[in-house]
Amino acid sequence: MRIAITREPAFENCHFSGLDGGLNSLRSNTFHWAARSLLIWSGNREHEPHSYPDVMAVAIYPGSFDPLTNGHLDILTRGSHLFDQLIVAVLQNSQKQSLFAVAERVEMLNEATAALPNVSVLSFEGLLVNCARECGAQVIVRGLRSPSDYEFEEQLATLNRRLSPQLDTIFLVATESNRAISSRIVKEIASLGGDVTSFVPPHAAAALRAKYASR
Ligand code: PNS
Repeated sequence: MRIAITREPAFENCHFSGLDGGLNSLRSNTFHWAARSLLIWSGNREHEPHSYPDVMAVAIYPGSFDPLTNGHLDILTRGSHLFDQLIVAVLQNSQKQSLFAVAERVEMLNEATAALPNVSVLSFEGLLVNCARECGAQVIVRGLRSPSDYEFEEQLATLNRRLSPQLDTIFLVATESNRAISSRIVKEIASLGGDVTSFVPPHAAAALRAKYASR
């Protein structure tokens, strides 16, 4: 199978915001060859990577981002260096109570990624594999903070691959300073009046303060 993104796919369950639809911005660096080679060798071993000059490596980084943390920012920034296009996909889950509305989470991410030209942000409902397919993503990026994260992430990756065999998951290990940070703990600290400025970007800290002040 040839992996090539030549046009914008029809988005049904995914809602892009900002950055010109997201699929026009490309950035080249040497890591892209590693990402492309990995995609091609894992998905189609009969061809050499160098026979795919037009392959665009697209990855999707899904999550709840309720709220965005410095840990998320670390993973998405590093992911943006590995792939031509990194799509940050914010889950809109009507069955899960979130602190921030999906539009607020998308806005938070748009602000945080404004300086990353190959990153775009969207929200999605339903299965991640469907959103990934509609976006033309070949890889899911997830962050790992600890061995206990791996247990859940392995299950997620295995099931996603069962649902969509062409879709692989790549894990990026969190930078040490971010390993203890989670959205859940950040919310708890903020709700108790604690200072979260070293755990989240400044605008997320302000949004957290505003959210809890109005409660
Ligand atoms: O930041 P989170 O909450 O750990 O992210 C979890 C997320 C959004 C990646 C996961 O819940 C997800 O993919 N949800 C979409 C629904 C889906 O595809 N479920 C089947 C996974 S095998």
